[in-house]
Amino acid sequence: MSRPTPLVAGNWKMNGLRAALAEITGMGQAYDAGLKSKLELLICPPAILIGAAADVARGTGIAIGAQDCHAKADGAHTGDIAAEMVADAGGSFIIVGHSERRADHGESDAVVHAKAQAAVRAGLKAIICVGETEAERRAGKTLDVVGRQLDGSIPASLTAANLVVAYEPVWAIGTGLTPTAADVAEVHAFIRQRLGQIIGKEAGGVRLLYGGSVKPSNAAELMGVPNVDGALVGGASLKASDFMAIAGVYR
Ligand code: PGA
Repeated sequence: MSRPTPLVAGNWKMNGLRAALAEITGMGQAYDAGLKSKLELLICPPAILIGAAADVARGTGIAIGAQDCHAKADGAHTGDIAAEMVADAGGSFIIVGHSERRADHGESDAVVHAKAQAAVRAGLKAIICVGETEAERRAGKTLDVVGRQLDGSIPASLTAANLVVAYEPVWAIGTGLTPTAADVAEVHAFIRQRLGQIIGKEAGGVRLLYGGSVKPSNAAELMGVPNVDGALVGGASLKASDFMAIAGVYR
């Protein structure tokens, strides 16, 4: 199977007021025809800004997405948003199972699985996150943990067209620490192989993103690792200059 088109995705987390939408305008100006031919760009702002972000991004080629959704399409779930609402607001991707959701909201693999199905039910793409904690890595359990998360979180019906997997070691998120290129290569090769057992031959075309302290200074090395098809970027996605410097490694 030919290599998938890379995806560089920004996760704004709980950052950004309406004024921050100007960063998306800046990203759009820098996302020129040359870059568009090389990679896809996505920004996932806080849910309340999805609609406005989609308006700002229209015509730039930058996709907009959500950081979470509820598994159900509607109903009595105060404060939650449905995948269908993300689609209606102009979103096209939903991040599910981010380690901050797993930790702060107790999301199990089963919950993540249901949310991924919801994203696809709404016609969107699911970015399913996995990754080990520092203690799990020190105990030599990284592949066990990631394997279990993949088995539990990924619906077998997903395809290369609607599934993206992000490997995000919890200890690398927001810390400035990153695994070595060799460690990333090992985990990504493992994910590709395990994905084959879950979804079959479609696994070859699924984008496998690396996330955790990706910045302009380390992006070229991390994006150059075999089986790394892009990045999930937190802090460095808040500023157009940093985010576009990371995207620029694909130029
Ligand atoms: P970071 O976050 O780039 O700020 O480390 C990555 C993520 O949590 O997706």
